[in-house]
Amino acid sequence: MKQIIMLPLFIIKMTTALFVDLTAYRNLSIAKRRIAEVASEEEEQGVDAAFPVGDAGIELAGVDFAYERDNPVFCGLDLVCSPGRLTALVGDSGCGKSTALSLVAQYYRPDKGSVLIGGADTAAYAPERVLENVSIVDQDVFLFDDSIAENVRYAKPGASDEEIRAACRLANADGFIERMPEGYDSRIGENGSRLSGGERQRLSIARAILRDSPIVLFDEATASLDIENELAVKRAIGNLLARRKTVIMIAHTLLIVRTADSIAVIGDGHVIEQGTHEELVARGGKYAAMWAADRQLA
Ligand SMILES: Nc1ncnc2c1ncn2[C@@H]1O[C@H](COP(=O)(O)OP(=O)(O)OP(=O)(O)O)[C@@H](O)[C@H]1O
Ligand SMILES: [Mg+2]
Repeated sequence: MKQIIMLPLFIIKMTTALFVDLTAYRNLSIAKRRIAEVASEEEEQGVDAAFPVGDAGIELAGVDFAYERDNPVFCGLDLVCSPGRLTALVGDSGCGKSTALSLVAQYYRPDKGSVLIGGADTAAYAPERVLENVSIVDQDVFLFDDSIAENVRYAKPGASDEEIRAACRLANADGFIERMPEGYDSRIGENGSRLSGGERQRLSIARAILRDSPIVLFDEATASLDIENELAVKRAIGNLLARRKTVIMIAHTLLIVRTADSIAVIGDGHVIEQGTHEELVARGGKYAAMWAADRQLA
């Protein structure tokens, strides 16, 4: 009698177990197929040799680029960024400033034309070998849930504590770090959630200073910072620029742009005009108009 009552329960238990096992098997075969697909994908082109960075001058020559086929961002873009100098990119929102940095950073390859660094065509090299020479500074900096010191050290594994402190001092970050309860050992939370935008940006600058690469790409935050943060970031930028790197900077305040060695105005898919602040103001073109508008606001 007892066995007869137990039988349906036993059958239910067995079918459930069978169902779970079959589902797991099915999921595993899907995963296996996906892995096989990735493994059989064509390898990225570009030789894995060290990139000959030379003088680290940057040139975008005759670049066409589109994210989506019938919506080109660049059409015959020519941009020259002299070695060891600061080139500022300005232009209306959506004109392609961030895209230009992405092309230099090898996130995308141009559809036509080339991105040259130190005279060498980057297309012939693996992106990561080119990137060994490039630091990227922005507020969206990737931070992990560890101490401040480890987050900065990420830019140069094996850097000494003293090197990290020196970089943070130049990046104007030591003040807020030392005010934290455990100083350089303070944990910063999941993706730096405990830090303000300006603080994140200064950590990003500290990484760039520690990394000491010949090229720095700088996307200044659009979000406004409070006055104290803004001054601190400006001083940090000054210290970074003093190190004679080839810097391309997207700046939203014309006050920083003004001090650039060269200013490139982007519009209609190409560089409309390029020169120093004085040259462009004298030219009476788009930059002169932007400058006049900015002065009026101030
Ligand atoms: N990942 C993407 N996919 C498709 N289109 C994109 C992508 N990123 C940017 N775009 C488009 O490309 C154009 C250039 O964008 P980009 O971000 O380079 O402009 P921007 O000059 O940096 O603007 P902002 O000053 O607002 O940051 C815009 O029209 C934008 O909508
Ligand atoms: Mg942008």
